[in-house]
Amino acid sequence: MDVLVVDHPLAQSRLTAMRDARTDSAAFRAALHELTTMLVYEATRTSAVEHYQIDTPVAPTRGTRLAAPPLLVPVLRAGLGMADSALALLPESSMGFVGLARDEHTFEPRAYMESLPVDLTNLPVLVLDPMLATGGSLEHCCRLLTERGATDITVLCVLAAPAGVERLERSGLPLRLVTAAIDEGLNDKAFIVPGLGDAGDRQFGGM
Ligand code: PRP
Repeated sequence: MDVLVVDHPLAQSRLTAMRDARTDSAAFRAALHELTTMLVYEATRTSAVEHYQIDTPVAPTRGTRLAAPPLLVPVLRAGLGMADSALALLPESSMGFVGLARDEHTFEPRAYMESLPVDLTNLPVLVLDPMLATGGSLEHCCRLLTERGATDITVLCVLAAPAGVERLERSGLPLRLVTAAIDEGLNDKAFIVPGLGDAGDRQFGGM
């Protein structure tokens, strides 16, 4: 599995704001929006393009656009905070949704919502979830996508734990991972350490 760590200074400064426990929800969401823009920019660097003819006010020239704008799939809840910025950079994209909640004791994901196109053959997919901890949630989500024919999936995270990266690697699914950092590990509640806490709660408040 290809793993890209976006260690650009501007990305790292947004990540630092998100890690800081003093950052309030509004500032946390703002940092996540900006960081997502940078992650999407890096993730699409190698996307296939097509060319077409346009006229500038001065002369004809060759234009460029994405050959296939990806389907965006935010994983609810926390991935919702990445959806707007991703769609702003990829305005021709459409969006699907997967709702997953991690069981507090087993740490396995429970699916409560799924709204995806039936056929994902030949469609690149960008999955949005700030946290890759044990990897259970993203593995589950990516299996739903491959069952529908997806063969080109890029997972966009803010933070990953080594265990999550290994689980996705072992899954054998056709994935690429783009993240702003790979942290030390997980604590006994399967929270990423040092991490940033619970990305859903920090954006939207505790449930
Ligand atoms: C968090 C996070 C990921 C998942 C990561 O979501 O946003 O989806 O946990 O953990 P994993 O890699 O161990 O599966 P959570 O279940 O807390 O739901 P939320 O987004 O609604 O807060």
